[in-house]
Formats: sequence, C-alpha cells, structure tokens
Amino acid sequence: MNSNSDFQVQMEQRVRKIEAMLMEYLPRQRGYQSVIMEAMSYSLLAGGKRLRPMLMKETYRLYNGTSGALCPFMAAIEMIHTYSLVHDDLPAMDNDEYRRGRKTTHVVYGEDMAILAGDALLNYAFETAFRAFVTDPEDSLAVGRALAVLGEKAGIYGMIGGQVIDVKETGHSVTKDVLDTIYKLKTSALIEASMMIGAILGGASEEEVKKVEKIAEYVGKAFQIQDDILDVTSTNEALGKPVHSDEKNDKTTYVTLLGLEEARKEVARLSDEAIGLLHMLSGENSYLEHLLLWLVHRDR
Ligand code: IPE
Ligand code: IPE
Ligand code: MG
Ligand code: MG
Ligand code: MG
Repeated sequence: MNSNSDFQVQMEQRVRKIEAMLMEYLPRQRGYQSVIMEAMSYSLLAGGKRLRPMLMKETYRLYNGTSGALCPFMAAIEMIHTYSLVHDDLPAMDNDEYRRGRKTTHVVYGEDMAILAGDALLNYAFETAFRAFVTDPEDSLAVGRALAVLGEKAGIYGMIGGQVIDVKETGHSVTKDVLDTIYKLKTSALIEASMMIGAILGGASEEEVKKVEKIAEYVGKAFQIQDDILDVTSTNEALGKPVHSDEKNDKTTYVTLLGLEEARKEVARLSDEAIGLLHMLSGENSYLEHLLLWLVHRDR
C-alpha cells in the first residue's frame, strides 16, 4: 500500500464486503414479532466504521488463516457492538438521539423495542457464532475457544462491566485508575475479542493470542480517548452522533481529566506502543498497521 488514498479505497471495499455479509446473517423469518427484526436491521445496517469485524479479519490474515468459521464471528462481534450502542443511547444511559447519522433506535421504535432489539442482537450474535461449528466442523476446538473469548469480553468482566462502572461514576469525579478500568472494559474488551478471535481462528499459538490481546488493549484505550476528544472537537454531522454528549452527562473523560493536549499525547503514545508490539508478532499485514494508525487518529 503506497498512499493514504490507497488505504481509504481498500477500507471502503472492506466495509462494503462486511455490510453485505451482515445482511446475509440477519434473520429472515418473520412473524407477529417482525418489528424486532426491523429494529435489529435498523440499528445494525445504519452504517458505522465496522472496525471490529475488520480488525478480526485482518488479524486472521496476519496468521494466514484458512478456517471457515471466521464470518459468523465477524457478524457476531458487530451485532454485540451494535447492541451495546443501542443500549448506551437509551434515556436511562447516555440519552442520545442520533447514532450513525440517524435517529437512535429508541427514538424510532420506542424504548421498549430498543431494549428488546438490544437483547435480540446480543442473543442473535451467539446464535450466529454457534453456527461456526457447522461452517467449520473440523475446527471445533478453535471455535470453542473463540466463543469463550466472545462471551467473556462482552460480559461483566468486559464491556458490560465497563458500562456499569461508567454509569455508576457518572456525575462523580473519577480517578485516573478508575477511568482506565472503565476504558479497558467498556471499549478495549470488544476490540480485544475481535483481534483475539481473529488470531485464534487464524491458528495463532496461545502465546501469540496473549500478545494480540495486549495490542488490542492499547488500541482500544487510544480509540476511546480519541472518541472523547472528538466529542469536544468534532461536529454532529462528521460523527453521526451528538457531540458534547459527555459534558451533557457530566462524565469524567481523558479530556476533562488531563486536557486536550495531554489526551492527544496519550493517544499517540498508546498507538506507538501498539504498533511496536505489532511488529514483534510472527506474521505481517501492512493494511492492519495502517488501520490501527487510522483508527486512533481518526476524525469520525
Ligand atoms: C462507538 O464505537 C463506541 C465506542 C467504543 C467509542 P465506534 O466509533 O466504533 O462506532 P461505529 O461502529 O463506527 O458506529
Ligand atoms: C460507550 O462509550 C462504549 C460502549 C460500550 C457502547 P461512549 O458512551 O463514549 O460511546 P459513544 O460516544 O456514545 O459512541
Ligand atoms: Mg456511554
Ligand atoms: Mg454514549
Ligand atoms: Mg463517546
């Protein structure tokens, strides 16, 4: 890859492929409950950067993976991420009305259906991931390991745990230690799951998977700090979600704790750390390196 524009073109191609795949995995059968399928598609197909499935696939490519189990897991991680956003935007949580450039799910379908659509996406993520046993029966050991990672990183020791502390600490002053724990769980955990599952299905050793987890932890933290920065420096149009949401909710962020300049330095430091560790892995994938750099320095 020679230039930034090559990277952008390649990224757009990948996003299109991921979106076509997500459409394939959405439930087809309807019934009296069809409103829930509509709400699931509304939130899942609204756009978004699709970083988690992309990171999963690129980490898998780093190990020259050949498993047929990858696609169900790529779809599953995006479903879990999307459910986390649907619930994060609810009035009881961040109370935001725009997401991915359109009205949030609860604004369109009501709070009741948004809660259920989130639940449904979470459940459907596991229904989808379990299909990997069928798409690649030869690889059931790796599929089992990947499922365990997905469950743990999405749960109380992962994303949900982080959201719990985030909500609990809203309106209070938070120490850097607690804030780091929130970021590690609410944001790094799903990025760790994405890259670790890519590595596991790609055939990486346990030791390599541990290294990948560390890289993803740094990337996730830098990603969340950049999200905090964009919340104060960007626009509703560029982000597709409301800016100043953190201020509205009286959240402590890296920006409120350290100031913009220090927050930016921390993003740069973490991304250097992540790229340094990436170079020490056994495989090579220059697109992945570009992607890690892009996503921590992104403007949307
Ligand atoms: C938003 O994630 C939530 C955070 C962890 C900051 P993304 O910025 O990846 O959201 P989409 O998927 O592109 O909409
Ligand atoms: C939420 O963090 C991360 C999730 C697990 C959903 P934020 O609340 O900062 O995410 P945005 O800014 O609403 O996307
Ligand atoms: Mg939030
Ligand atoms: Mg939010
Ligand atoms: Mg935010």
